[in-house]
Amino acid sequence: MYLTKEEEKMLDGEYGEVVERMFRLLVRLGDIYGAEKMIPIGSAQIAGVSYKSIGDPGLEFLEDMASKGARVKVLSFLNPAGMDLEQWKKLGFPEDFAERQLRIIEAFRKMGIVITSTCTPYLAGNLPRYREHIAWSESSAVSFANSVIGARTNREGGPSALAAAICGRTPDYGLHRFENRQPNVKVKVEAELSRISDYGALGYVIGKEIKNKIPYFVGIKNANVDQLKSLGAAMAASGAVALYHIEGITPEADLVEKDGIEEISVEERDIKKVYEDLDCGEDPDIVIFGCPHASIREIMDLVNLLSNRKLKKPLWICTSRSVKELSDRIGLTEIIERAGGYVVSDTCMVVSPIEKMGYNTTGVNSGKAANYLPGFCKQKVVFASMEELVERIT
Ligand code: F3S
Repeated sequence: MYLTKEEEKMLDGEYGEVVERMFRLLVRLGDIYGAEKMIPIGSAQIAGVSYKSIGDPGLEFLEDMASKGARVKVLSFLNPAGMDLEQWKKLGFPEDFAERQLRIIEAFRKMGIVITSTCTPYLAGNLPRYREHIAWSESSAVSFANSVIGARTNREGGPSALAAAICGRTPDYGLHRFENRQPNVKVKVEAELSRISDYGALGYVIGKEIKNKIPYFVGIKNANVDQLKSLGAAMAASGAVALYHIEGITPEADLVEKDGIEEISVEERDIKKVYEDLDCGEDPDIVIFGCPHASIREIMDLVNLLSNRKLKKPLWICTSRSVKELSDRIGLTEIIERAGGYVVSDTCMVVSPIEKMGYNTTGVNSGKAANYLPGFCKQKVVFASMEELVERIT
């Protein structure tokens, strides 16, 4: 691989042990995937933040890195942690879990990483531009950045995103190169999609079928940012889709080659079947929205549905801290709390230990959460629209 003089210094240890170790990791990755050079990145987004996911070995690794002076070179955000970093006591998170989670966050803070734990960094102050190279690791954020914004990132692991953040570079391979961003399956959507959960259902069924291919959708007439993030998150979870194109909607759709590729179609009955398959038929113990983390519009939608109702079961809507602050400021949080729910930030239903907090059945409107909750959190799932779920617990 060609290295600049500066990169050779990194590799030779002139910037210290941590940079050398991290840069070696990137070079190894580049060699495996045939990269010819490194490219500078505009930002990083680092997964492996929840104590539930990384445990004591992860905590020790991060504390060791921080104590050796690791510092990030580019704007770097964190993926959701295992708890709300401020309201954890009120929400019933276990003390010993909280103590370790806070140590993880402190290690990241020492490295210069912005302490905002979210899977929607693009809604919280880390917005890449079209064609900007970035190194992000949360699969739903990777999908959104590649597809909706047209930025360029591979699906990084936690360590490779951290290495890229510390070195300010990533190897030039995979989705950083336009020739690898071409679709290989055309998906004809012959179903009406209106609710966010419909897009989650579409993503769930397509991800399962096409695995890690790049789909080119036709027939989606309109979709807002919330619907697109739901679609991408579900495809990344039930399959491993890191980039999709939608005719007339996403920025590279007109530029890519879509003639002569395999075609599949999705009909109304396929979407309906996802709702049937993912609903265990029981009453939820808790309903959790915000996978991926909710936008202010989704919080507003929830507030409209809750008007003058009282919740009979716990309800969380998960979001980034900055969106929660907006929600606090314009009085939405207060309305949700008056109904008996919470606006929860820094975490989500999958990376928090809800199975240890007395919940067995969780209601969600997210195809991604529905896919992960049984395995990661031992939950039975009720998958339905936001409207239906609110109806069921009020
Ligand atoms: Fe985000 Fe958690 Fe869903 S990280 S995409 S809210 S599973």
